[in-house]
Amino acid sequence: MDISKLENELKSVKQQMDGLRDLEPSKRAEMGAKLNTRNREIEAELFKAQREAREREVNDRLQGDKLVDITVPDLNARRGHLHPITRVQREVEEVFASMGFIIEEGNEIATEFENFDSLNTPKHHPARDMQDTFWLDNGQVLRTHTSTLQNYFLKKYGPEFRAISVGRCFRNEAVDASHENTFFQVEGMMVGKDISIANLIYFLKHALTAVFKKEINVRLRPGFFSFVEPGFEFDMSCVFCDAKGCSVCKHSNWIEFCGCGMVHPNVLRMGGVDPEKYQGFAWGFGLTRLAMMKYGINEIRHFNSGNLEFLRSVK
Ligand code: DAH
Repeated sequence: MDISKLENELKSVKQQMDGLRDLEPSKRAEMGAKLNTRNREIEAELFKAQREAREREVNDRLQGDKLVDITVPDLNARRGHLHPITRVQREVEEVFASMGFIIEEGNEIATEFENFDSLNTPKHHPARDMQDTFWLDNGQVLRTHTSTLQNYFLKKYGPEFRAISVGRCFRNEAVDASHENTFFQVEGMMVGKDISIANLIYFLKHALTAVFKKEINVRLRPGFFSFVEPGFEFDMSCVFCDAKGCSVCKHSNWIEFCGCGMVHPNVLRMGGVDPEKYQGFAWGFGLTRLAMMKYGINEIRHFNSGNLEFLRSVK
């Protein structure tokens, strides 16, 4: 029934109720009860009809409105992208994983043993002075290099494995365009039987060629690191001038890339590997420097600056 009819009926019932007082008392009670029942029935019907009318009205309005799907992504929104360090890290990890290297994560806080002693650099060894170290009150250090992973690799995977680890390192550097107190390194290590420096040259040359997407030449010069014997400085052909001579390579055609060498017998021994039966190589290169070369960035401080303009400009 429609609402106005119900309203009219309700009105007439109410009028009849008002008229009850004119009836004689014997009929009044009977008539009163009937009218009361009818009154409640109409009120209930009216309530229901009003609710249905409201629902119809809301539904009609929604049908007419343009519906908005709030789950559709905003196609005009500016998308973020990965930090340049993360991008090179992933490229490096991918190329070494493709050559069978395990990828390990390491701790940024290291023990004195991991950072120095296990690397054949005992207390009072002059090589400790090569790295200006942040010491913590508890005698541990903010690791100065990723070489802290060497002892860990040997104990976990020795005596035959190949592994890399990428991570942040810290030194009390005087900060300038090419020196930061916080930077990333990549440690690599391979141990087994009949391993030679020729293997290291092959892996690093292949990785550099993959990262720079062009043929990179390499050369080794003697270098000292207490945890390798013999130790080398590893140079790569200048990527800026393709070894034709430029201001970056100071017309030498070569860029110093990293330290490396054959793992020192003491380091193997401290990792529980017998140096009479096994040998290996190790390297440690700067991932931050690699990113600078790859993207042509000449200011290292940009990386930790949080400067979005810089980050957006690195494509
Ligand atoms: N840890 C050295 C540094 O930070 C780099 C390095 C040199 C790592 C020789 C090695 C290596 O694994 O064999 O200066």
